[in-house]
Amino acid sequence: MSPVRDKITKGTVSARRDVPSSIARPEYVGRKVAATWQGGDVHDAETIEKIRISAKIAAGALAEVGRHVAPGVTTDELDRVGHEYVLDHGAYPSTLGYPGAAGRPPFPKALCTSVNEIICHGIPDSTVVEEGDIVKVDITAFKNGVHGDNCGSFIAGEGSDEARQLVEVTHEAMTRGIKAAKPGREVNVIGRVIEKYAARFGYESVRNYTGHGVGPAFHTGLVVPHYDAAPMHDDIIEPGMVFTIEPMLCMGSEASHEWDDGWTVATDDGSWVAQFEHTMVITDEGAEVLTLP
Ligand code: MF3
Ligand code: CO
Ligand code: CO
Repeated sequence: MSPVRDKITKGTVSARRDVPSSIARPEYVGRKVAATWQGGDVHDAETIEKIRISAKIAAGALAEVGRHVAPGVTTDELDRVGHEYVLDHGAYPSTLGYPGAAGRPPFPKALCTSVNEIICHGIPDSTVVEEGDIVKVDITAFKNGVHGDNCGSFIAGEGSDEARQLVEVTHEAMTRGIKAAKPGREVNVIGRVIEKYAARFGYESVRNYTGHGVGPAFHTGLVVPHYDAAPMHDDIIEPGMVFTIEPMLCMGSEASHEWDDGWTVATDDGSWVAQFEHTMVITDEGAEVLTLP
């Protein structure tokens, strides 16, 4: 079902990369938990303009890292590229030092690299990317007090037909979710269209990890499922809302487990996964994608 390739295993994580003290850190860096955001998900025009800037930096970083995905590169090298891009644009890479679950270490790098059967939150390390791998890169920029978050799937080299189809269908699933996000509808409409589209190809949509409100907080508390969660998650979509849509589709079962590093999430059956993510603002007409370079 999924192409033949050794399973991904833990590599060696390099030393933490520096961030100059001139770059402002999010409040959670150096703390055990991120503060709970109380300010809701509808933002004023000034805040949205700031989110546009962070989202554009995140999108530029994603494109730059994507250009470096090729057989032979290490995921640590991809982290270096993303880390430097974000700093060069006066922003902080939001995942660096993001608090983990109770008793777990903070995330140690500037982006997540999740290869093949790794669903999400893979830690960049000495892992060498091989021909045909699907490399998910998830990178977030923080500037002027707000975050912009995005993810893309890149195939190293040409890739198998199955891998290319999974990546294309996942991108189309995200696009359909974005088109469904109109004011007045419930948030759960988004996951319904994503899950339905994935099922046409026999793919399962991951349930345990979701889209989220984003902006003044990395994760505001608003949850955007990528499956049909109705009657749950009936929050009404409103103009001025900012959130992500970030479906993860699996060739096989979406059942997953976490590695003992406290972060890496893998499919139980080893089936391969693709993911795309955009940050968007809701307007009177629908969703406007902000994470564009
Ligand atoms: N960027 C991821 C998301 O889309 C979150 C990564 S948190 C990390 O929500 F700590 F794993 F990096
Ligand atoms: Co992300
Ligand atoms: Co996100």
